[in-house]
Amino acid sequence: MDRDAQSGFQDIGRERQKGIFVRGVAGDRPVVPTAFEALEERARAAMSREAFAYVAGGAGSESTIRANRAAFERWRIVPRVLRDVAARDLSVQLLGRTLPAPMLLAPIGVLELAHPEADLAVARAAAALGVPMIFSNQASVAMETCAAVMGQAPRWFQLYWSKSDALVESLVHRAEACGCEAIVLTLDTTMLGWRPRDLDLAYLPFLHGMGIAQYTSDPVFRESLGADMPEEGRRVRPRLSLGTMSAISGMIRRYPGTLPAKVTSGKPRKAVQQFIATYSRPSLQWDDVTRLKRMTRLKVVLKGVLHPDDAKRALDHGADGIVVSNHGGRQVDGAVATMDALPAMVETVAGQVPVLLDSGVRGGADLFKALGLGATALLLGRPYVYGLALAGEAGVREVVENVVAEFDLTMGLAGCVAASRIDASALARAVSG
Ligand code: FNR
Repeated sequence: MDRDAQSGFQDIGRERQKGIFVRGVAGDRPVVPTAFEALEERARAAMSREAFAYVAGGAGSESTIRANRAAFERWRIVPRVLRDVAARDLSVQLLGRTLPAPMLLAPIGVLELAHPEADLAVARAAAALGVPMIFSNQASVAMETCAAVMGQAPRWFQLYWSKSDALVESLVHRAEACGCEAIVLTLDTTMLGWRPRDLDLAYLPFLHGMGIAQYTSDPVFRESLGADMPEEGRRVRPRLSLGTMSAISGMIRRYPGTLPAKVTSGKPRKAVQQFIATYSRPSLQWDDVTRLKRMTRLKVVLKGVLHPDDAKRALDHGADGIVVSNHGGRQVDGAVATMDALPAMVETVAGQVPVLLDSGVRGGADLFKALGLGATALLLGRPYVYGLALAGEAGVREVVENVVAEFDLTMGLAGCVAASRIDASALARAVSG
């Protein structure tokens, strides 16, 4: 961790403003825009059509993506004045740790779509800032490789429960060995949502061997490549074309090991087929949460909980935290916006475990509003992916610092000196809209 994390983002709002404006005197403008719309637009230009569609897209008509933003907009901040906000403390307590700001980096798969250094760049940026990174089950870089560059900085692991319990157990134990402090079990993706942007480009990165590094680095998964391929995997046989050849060469390139061994074993292609055959498990149910709790000594956080009754069941099954999330509108078109769901979730959980939130978090004011409604911390998603696309590790850092800087100023200007003390008295429902 470097100086920023130790000083806990002290006065980061004014520092960043000053830095940007001073560099502007010499004619330098930020490479990574501070406003989300400009950030997204610039990232679009830097990414391939397929990559941008995969990151930006959502399920169906993408109404949930819009609803997430609209729900944030419906809450307004009511600033208080003359409260001496010269010293502000952005830190919060989460699962036994002090975070320098109420923010974690959401698990995002296939980051190689944004930048060749992918998860490794994010790991370095997160560690430098002391902001926890949640390793994705669909990462482009194995968790061990990321952990190795993070020192003691906090990290969690996000799990997709596949059809293979042995693989699940292996991933969980690897996460323990990597120093992860929690397992985030994602519940909303037991099947892939219906995503028109990807469908119309006929593009799924996993079929090109991307985003399966946690599998190809896993001893249990690799062992399974020697066995008979399940029928579902054998059916993955595209027509032979130039595109197919290029996909296969991509699979070979991304698979670990020496080139001759990879080519002769046929494993890179088998790995993709095996992945497709096993990655999702629609039969997942509450008992599995109990099994996960028994499997690990780590905290178990459930991601993708939107109904208060499910929040209650999460508590009954020993969850150590929940993430109110609709997966950034990528799974159920028309799903409830997370900021609309949050108040009832907070009421149900009643302080027994932390309630986190993601989906639509774009700036510092969003952090303030969600904390006001009782969230302990938020997960930042697409914005950091766009920073990664524009400037790798430095880009991720810029985006995180920008959001935290805006949060710092919002907090102070709203008359609040501690993130942990923001409450609903600082918010009002919008009169219209
Ligand atoms: C995701 N998300 C996700 N979630 C998860 O649990 N495991 C994963 O591998 C991924 N992968 C992933 C890829 C991409 C490209 C996106 C955009 C999202 C969901 C993610 O963790 C988070 O819930 C959303 O990104 C939040 O929405 P916003 O704020 O990014 O719109």
